Amino acid sequence: MSDQTPTPTFHVCAKAGSDTNAGTAEAPFKTVEHALTLSPTAEVMEMSEEGEFKKISSKTRSRVLKNIEKQEKQRQADELRAKQLQERLEASKLVQIERPSADETTYIKIRDVCEEKPVPEGIVLIKGWVHRIRIQSKKLMFVVVRDGTGLMQCVLNDQLCETYDALTLTRESTVEVYGTLNQVPKGKTSPNGFELKAVFFKIISAAPGGKDSADNIFNDDANPEVLLDQRHMVLRDQGPSDIMRFRAFVLNAFRTHYNDNNYCEVTPPLMVQTQVEGGSTLFKFDYYGQDAYLTQSSQLYLETVLPSLGDVYCIAQSFRAEKSRTRRHLSEYTHVEAECSFISFEDLLNRVEKLVCDVSNHIWNHPVAGKILREVNPSFTPPEAPFLRMSYIEGIEWLNEHGQLKPDGTPYVFGDDIPEAPERYMTDSINRPILFHSFPAEVKSFYMPRREEDNRLTESVDLLMPGVGEIVGGSMRIWDLEELMKGYEREGIDPTPYYWFTDQRRYGSCPHGGYGLGLERFLTWMLGLHHVRDVCLYPRFTGRCRP
Ligand code: 4AD
Repeated sequence: MSDQTPTPTFHVCAKAGSDTNAGTAEAPFKTVEHALTLSPTAEVMEMSEEGEFKKISSKTRSRVLKNIEKQEKQRQADELRAKQLQERLEASKLVQIERPSADETTYIKIRDVCEEKPVPEGIVLIKGWVHRIRIQSKKLMFVVVRDGTGLMQCVLNDQLCETYDALTLTRESTVEVYGTLNQVPKGKTSPNGFELKAVFFKIISAAPGGKDSADNIFNDDANPEVLLDQRHMVLRDQGPSDIMRFRAFVLNAFRTHYNDNNYCEVTPPLMVQTQVEGGSTLFKFDYYGQDAYLTQSSQLYLETVLPSLGDVYCIAQSFRAEKSRTRRHLSEYTHVEAECSFISFEDLLNRVEKLVCDVSNHIWNHPVAGKILREVNPSFTPPEAPFLRMSYIEGIEWLNEHGQLKPDGTPYVFGDDIPEAPERYMTDSINRPILFHSFPAEVKSFYMPRREEDNRLTESVDLLMPGVGEIVGGSMRIWDLEELMKGYEREGIDPTPYYWFTDQRRYGSCPHGGYGLGLERFLTWMLGLHHVRDVCLYPRFTGRCRP
């Protein structure tokens, strides 16, 4: 009889599992980590996006095992510190140090400490969150503090390491540190080139240690769903917080472009009773007993203020009840939209091109945003105008010439809506921005006017970017009343609730057009990321509406 225990098989489902379950297919664990902690050699079957259990890859296994090892080391270090603390408590040897007086200290933000500014003299005080702790020896600790404006390495030595607060310090606790500032000695590094030699420090609010320690949350190897559940903590990490800061700079750059070009910003309502981009992606809700929707686009409202405000723009949330999870679809996204009066279709294409070039150049040349951009996406260079202009008909030809077939195996023909995959293939192969224009009326929205040269086509445009695909959708707008009525009819839309939109064609109409740019897709393109989720504060997509 063999005394070898057979290798167990565990099942894991990040969405529906729990680590208190038995790890069976019916009652799966939540994390691969838990399964491999129980048995490092276990066979682990993880629930895939397609809803089937699949064996984890050897890469995932070794990543998770490495992480378990890291946590074990951390646990041992915590244990050692707890023991030291206990010994000191028992020997009543805890060191007490006096806080410097308020009038001899200057409270500073970490961003104020940089090579371009004079180093503050005397004792400075910083307040923030413990980002990293490195214990070099019993008498030397490095604590990196984060205050939302930067990172500062603080050096604690000798008696400071023997205080109660030093011996119990945990990651993400809030602290105040008093000390003197110095540039780091040659050959040594720190996040900003400086370090604060502490003379006093105190915990303001202690974060948990042990198994609830933040170290266990900031775990690059965790399942994406687990990281999304912990998004509120993950956002404290350097990478995600850099991306959020970058996003803020990009929003600013869009506003700069619009201000420089005399657009007026408006803030349209997001609760609406009309659709813009087709009924299938509407989020419906009960509005005091009436049907209402979360807006898909603010375009119709922007059009209404052209007569009073001239060129206008808004940066607002749009909502789409997308059925599928893809790497570029969100249920809620930030929509940068503009509308311009008395322009031609050619003007519209030029404006889209200028917007993307201006914002890219602005960020490229920005001291902080440019640095993040170069770090995250070293291969980025701002695109140059003119972008390639390609018509829908030329696109169909390209797909046929390059052997791209429809799912049923037949070639694409005029009138087909080109799906995401072949469009991406074309964009990635051409590998430069494409103003893809003049789509057939049947595949586009009710408000798009026909091209004079070919009545089957509309004055419409999508801007396609390598790596992401469509980032902008725009068009000229029907400005003739009768034509608009036909557009409603073709799409089976009751014109009644659109009276205010229709009125624009009755009370002094004009040729006009505009576009909408998906901020998350734009950021994903600039930063060369894989998924739009990574540039959202708290992403919303099929199946996720928390935290
Ligand atoms: O092409 P779309 O549907 O155009 C409109 O909504 C127009 N009414 C805008 C206008 O002319 N004012 O959407 C515009 C852009 C897309 O190119 C894409 O970047 C983004 O919005 N977008 C999405 N981004 C993330 N998730 C989704 N589900 C998105 N749907 C559209």
